[in-house]
Amino acid sequence: MNLSLFRPEQFKRVSRRHLEEDEGRYWENRWDRRFGNILDITTISLESITGKILPINESNYIYEGGCTGGDLTLLRAYCNAFTDCRYFEIGTWLGTSVMAVAGVAAECHTLDICPPEITNAPGHITFLRGNSQHFRFSRAGKFDVLFIDGDHRYEYIRCDTQNVLRYLIHRGSVIVWHDCRDDIGNLRYEVLYGILNGMSENLRHSLRLVNGTKCAVLVP
Ligand SMILES: C[S@@+](CC[C@H](N)C(=O)[O-])C[C@H]1O[C@@H](n2cnc3c(N)ncnc32)[C@H](O)[C@@H]1O
Repeated sequence: MNLSLFRPEQFKRVSRRHLEEDEGRYWENRWDRRFGNILDITTISLESITGKILPINESNYIYEGGCTGGDLTLLRAYCNAFTDCRYFEIGTWLGTSVMAVAGVAAECHTLDICPPEITNAPGHITFLRGNSQHFRFSRAGKFDVLFIDGDHRYEYIRCDTQNVLRYLIHRGSVIVWHDCRDDIGNLRYEVLYGILNGMSENLRHSLRLVNGTKCAVLVP
């Protein structure tokens, strides 16, 4: 018997991939049962939103699993559409998204459970430390552009969506969710399922996927 066939690291890699596939199928099935026959999310083009905003130079920002140039262009375009834009995000990590919008937003707030991995940030960025599940959103104020990019598991997405809609928006706010697609463009049903279950039924038909990005947007 050729024992090299059973290298443990190879086995781990294969089984993790299978687990991810199983989990993906699990959420796709849940999605189909709940929303399959009643909701077809419309896809819109990035250009229809960004207009004349110059795209970000992707080589400055891209990293695996994170925001793409398209995602950052989208966020910047939305922030740029507001005078003195107030921006709030859940999920700071390397600060890529918040640094990208800082040039076009007057005030930026970014919340993360971990300390920010960022130095020399401009003064109009406020770093908030905490778990979004326990954060006091009711005291944070109202914002023009909201970016939800924290924990991407169902219950967290649902709860973050609910809190943002309940506490942080005004009539003209825009909400952007990240990672509605994976790195090769497949829909992430767990994320979408969380988003839709975090909002009231009448808003669900206004959710849009944006081509050329991993984002979904809602202009309530
Ligand atoms: C995908 S990263 C955010 C990437 C960031 N928006 C960027 O463009 O660089 C997700 C971040 O969410 C944070 N996070 C995960 N769960 C969280 C929670 N419950 N509350 C707040 N932040 C959370 C993680 O610590 C991580 O830094």
